[in-house]
Amino acid sequence: MTVEKYFVLQGGDRMPRIGFGTWQASDEVLEKSVSDALSAGYRHFDTARAYENEAALGRALTRWIGGEQTRRKELFVVTKLPPGGNRPDLVPEYFNNSLKDLGLDYLDMYIMHTPFAFEHIPGDLHPKNPDGSMRVDLSTDLIAVWKAILKLKESGRVRHVGVSNVNEEQLRRLCAVEKPACLQIEVHVLCQQKSMIGIASELGIPIVAYSPLGSKALADVLAAKTGREYPDLLSLPIVQRIADAHSRTAAQVLLRYTLQRGVGAIPKSTNPARIQQNISLWNFELTESELKELSTVDRGENGRICDFSLSIYL
Ligand code: A2P
Repeated sequence: MTVEKYFVLQGGDRMPRIGFGTWQASDEVLEKSVSDALSAGYRHFDTARAYENEAALGRALTRWIGGEQTRRKELFVVTKLPPGGNRPDLVPEYFNNSLKDLGLDYLDMYIMHTPFAFEHIPGDLHPKNPDGSMRVDLSTDLIAVWKAILKLKESGRVRHVGVSNVNEEQLRRLCAVEKPACLQIEVHVLCQQKSMIGIASELGIPIVAYSPLGSKALADVLAAKTGREYPDLLSLPIVQRIADAHSRTAAQVLLRYTLQRGVGAIPKSTNPARIQQNISLWNFELTESELKELSTVDRGENGRICDFSLSIYL
């Protein structure tokens, strides 16, 4: 089974199916890993205002671009509107701040990070109540926010706009206005999103998987706080066995499985060897029976790590 290296978007722009995830790395470590990722061949970089690392990512990217427009055009840079910005009148301001911190004059993709909003508190992207719960504002007008995001395209400073973390009903409502260029959701072997992938494929929307390797650092934090068990995807016996059969690593099997399902992925690593490994996925192939076996591991909603109903109350 041939796996394409790119999603071709409207107008012919190409979004690499493997991108570099940047959540949860300190600025210094991130700058170094982004340089390693560029050397390893990554061209798609994913961040978000809420990760509070746009400036560090921007420094590493602009150093590599070195003022050359041809180099900038090689890159596919993605950032996201934070939940506190989910109000139509605030969208341009949040977008401008992201662009400024990234040090770029245009973005390849701007994504609505969540369908819900936090209260808008200038300078505080993660506003909490005294009991530690998030200050959620449930009055978000999803469609109005989406229209404001779509409007950004008119400025020419963003080429594509997409959404993240929406459910099927929300996705259909957004599509009634205009189809997102991309849907970013949690997808991995334990949370396979079969129904959502079916719908997105019907609608012709590329899916990019976050937490494709199970975001172990986040899972460990959640496990400590909730007492819930989060299996380590990389040590699942079935994944190990398939990795051995192909003389590949468990991470490569997980990522190749994602790609063979037609889904892109943004694995994150700060380790140069693993950064390289996570993009070396093109010259091996999982068999039909391996795909079938991996498909049975799915735990559906119970396999989700990034569960907003949990994280909101942590
Ligand atoms: P590290 O940064 O030390 O490599 P996800 O992309 O699902 O969020 O997962 C990221 C986690 O997976 C990080 O803890 C990262 O650790 C680890 N990781 C990334 N690539 C690999 C790999 N090839 N093998 C093992 N662990 C990996």
